[in-house]
Amino acid sequence: MTRPVLWFPRRLSDATLERAQSKYDCIINWQDGLSTPGEIVAMSAQVDGVVPCHSEHFTADVAARLDPRLKIIANHSVGVDHCDLPALKARGITVTNTPDVLNDATAEIAMLLMLGAARRAVEGDRLVRTGSWDFWSPSFMVGKQMTGARLGIVGMGRVGRAFAEKARGFGMEIHYFNRNRLSAEQEQGAIYHHSVENVLKLSDFLSLHCPATPETTGLMNAERLALLPRGAVLVNTARGALVDEAALIAALESGHLAAAGLDCFATEPGGNPALAKFDNVFMLPHIGSATVQTRDAMGFRALDNLDVFFSGSAPPDQV
Ligand code: DGY
Repeated sequence: MTRPVLWFPRRLSDATLERAQSKYDCIINWQDGLSTPGEIVAMSAQVDGVVPCHSEHFTADVAARLDPRLKIIANHSVGVDHCDLPALKARGITVTNTPDVLNDATAEIAMLLMLGAARRAVEGDRLVRTGSWDFWSPSFMVGKQMTGARLGIVGMGRVGRAFAEKARGFGMEIHYFNRNRLSAEQEQGAIYHHSVENVLKLSDFLSLHCPATPETTGLMNAERLALLPRGAVLVNTARGALVDEAALIAALESGHLAAAGLDCFATEPGGNPALAKFDNVFMLPHIGSATVQTRDAMGFRALDNLDVFFSGSAPPDQV
């Protein structure tokens, strides 16, 4: 029996690629560079399945040009905003993602960003690292305390809940907005609000955990940022599209926002150079799920979906 052929446009973890190669014929982009739309289209004629990351864009235009040989896009990501789902569905292509397995790693990075932004990690690290730390006083580098503060969470899905669990350990009072209210067991005392706006009004800290969709694009615009209490801290580990970066910069410049912690940006890779001048913005290059354990788990979850698909059934994480 011929083995299905898979394309890996990015270099996934060694354990993932080893398992993939034991069952499939694999074309692996060992150089790990980005593929152009033209390369994605060309490759689709040679493979039965592809295992992309959020960095490979399956736009409506790409979807329309894909070769009929390609049957499944088994994403190595929980986010699927890089895939035009209606266009892919119209082409009969199955799309899957990797939920659950990255909840804790992403929640950890959100916590790092929140702490780093609140306690002035960028500024402090630079002072010590550059040898320019020549002063100390009780008024030196005073930050914002998380313990006992009100934390707003927008999007109480799996990652949002994992983050809430960690924030409870910091004694934070948790408020949230979600499309649907959680059960009392899932809420664990978190306070539900019927609108994002109501959460914003009382969030000393705000963390975004919703997917990027047409409805959430530009969610944190000038009007909504203005609803946050003065001196609030914004954390984004979800998607850059959720934040209007020009409005964010204006809120930082006016001092309305005390700080921000960002793992994702409107432009990736690259980020926004205009944010670099702010010492109170703690930035990371989209590494929320970048731990050895989580990368293996994401790769294995994508392969689990492929195994089920090629055995003739509907994969568990079909989106
Ligand atoms: C995801 O899984 O969506 C993360 O952002 C990494 O791609």
